[in-house]
Amino acid sequence: MTNQPRNSETPVPEAFQGIRIAPSILSADFGRLGSQIAEIMDAGARVIHFDVMDGQFVPPITIGPLVLSGIADQVHDAGGVVDVHLMIEDPDRQFEDFARAGADSIIFHEEATPHAHRCCHAIRELGCLAGVAINPGTPVETVSELKGMVDEILVMTVNPGWGGQPFIETSPDKVRRMRSLVGDDVLIEVDGGIGTGTAGTMAAAGATLMVAGSAIFGSDDPAQAYRDIHAAAESGA
Ligand code: DX5
Ligand code: ZN
Repeated sequence: MTNQPRNSETPVPEAFQGIRIAPSILSADFGRLGSQIAEIMDAGARVIHFDVMDGQFVPPITIGPLVLSGIADQVHDAGGVVDVHLMIEDPDRQFEDFARAGADSIIFHEEATPHAHRCCHAIRELGCLAGVAINPGTPVETVSELKGMVDEILVMTVNPGWGGQPFIETSPDKVRRMRSLVGDDVLIEVDGGIGTGTAGTMAAAGATLMVAGSAIFGSDDPAQAYRDIHAAAESGA
């Protein structure tokens, strides 16, 4: 099932609003994915970040619509949303399958298509929030013509492809410049190297959605790690 088409007037679901930590299941134990999702949602998480890699745009291959359809009902029933991050070439060929599988937002990489404007429109027509991601080497100005078309901008704070990489230290300045470029009506998400040491700085710079993979699922206590990162982000906001 897909949702009604969205436009710039459609309200953003509550689960995406405010300071949110989005656990990335890339670092979860896929043998017990359901219980890992239940654990972090019980701890308060409402945005589940879903990393899709195709072995082309980035070297690894990860998960696709079949896995998404396996978790979407659980996440929605618990009041959450699934934030789909496509690190794939030709992303527009896949939007419909991810929307049907239960995506709430679909983020494509600006570097993966010459048709960012059309991609945003296509995602909104499928009833999902339209997101665009930019790599560390891509300037913030790249997204300036998408204002009014895009709901969510993901500023990569590592190079995409792997969990557990070190945070790129110039990222807070980049997020500040992105926030002043796009204003307050767009969600700004950061992804890579986020933990208790970086979440507060990123919130202070203007990010509200913070992806954390290894800092949560690599911890002995993912629920406590989630709460600690959330508190760190709130203290910087
Ligand atoms: C990396 C992915 C991330 C990844 C982040 O390309 O987009 O979402 O899971 O992992 P950490 O939080 O470990 O840097
Ligand atoms: Zn991601």
